[in-house]
Amino acid sequence: MDAHPPILIFDSGVGGLSVLDAVRKALPHETYRYACDNAAFPYGPKPEDELVARVDAVLTALIARIEPKMVIVACNTASTVALPRLRAKFPMPIIGVVPAIKPAAGLSGNKVIGLLATPGTVTRRYTDDLIREFAPHCDVIRVGSRELVVLAEAKLRGEAIDIDTLREILSPFFQEAGRQADTIVLGCTHFPLLLDELRQAAPQVKHWVDSGEAIARRAASLLPEAETEAGISRAIFTADEPSMKRLAAALAEHGLVQIDIIPIPN
Ligand code: DGL
Repeated sequence: MDAHPPILIFDSGVGGLSVLDAVRKALPHETYRYACDNAAFPYGPKPEDELVARVDAVLTALIARIEPKMVIVACNTASTVALPRLRAKFPMPIIGVVPAIKPAAGLSGNKVIGLLATPGTVTRRYTDDLIREFAPHCDVIRVGSRELVVLAEAKLRGEAIDIDTLREILSPFFQEAGRQADTIVLGCTHFPLLLDELRQAAPQVKHWVDSGEAIARRAASLLPEAETEAGISRAIFTADEPSMKRLAAALAEHGLVQIDIIPIPN
């Protein structure tokens, strides 16, 4: 058994780094494996059955190899469909991330909420149920964007982000007078990585809400015996890619000092 059994945090790309940061803040002495399924990126447009099968295959391979004490599916697109199957299959706690509709409904002053997520997440039944349960008194404007996911990936590879492009993506939230979102749910883990730029593009928004802290609280509540010393945290990619060198610097900023490639062809 590993002297530092890790927590495995998993996403299609770099989005889950926003979750890793929040979890590490709550559990600083844990050891982390951040797995990026870049071989199958992006998840947003994938049909549900294909996505569930892919997430199952990747986690089966990684869990056998890493033997994590806990798995965090740091991807809304995957969590909103794959969690029941994963929880039935694997013995360790599996935590998922879903759009933070409930806190947003509490924070919004005018009860007009924007949900910004992948095209998959905005149309899911799971999302309909969340809105029905936690925001029945709110007007929820949904925007599904693939482009924003790609832009977050580009930012982590050192590229500059054009604020006008973000303004255009956000424009449906402010189209009608008297129906302007004052609170926006970042329902994709990639999007908090662009928070500074999003704030610049839409300074009128009062609250940008993501799920990172809620996930961190849940993880901490399931690990009552905190570790006293962390091992080395590393990133795992399911395919090699030319931009790996550029990514290494960004990953190091998130405390991931080494990159392993474990090929899992799509
Ligand atoms: N980061 C992911 C999410 O939270 C998905 C991005 C993608 O692969 O489309 O939904």
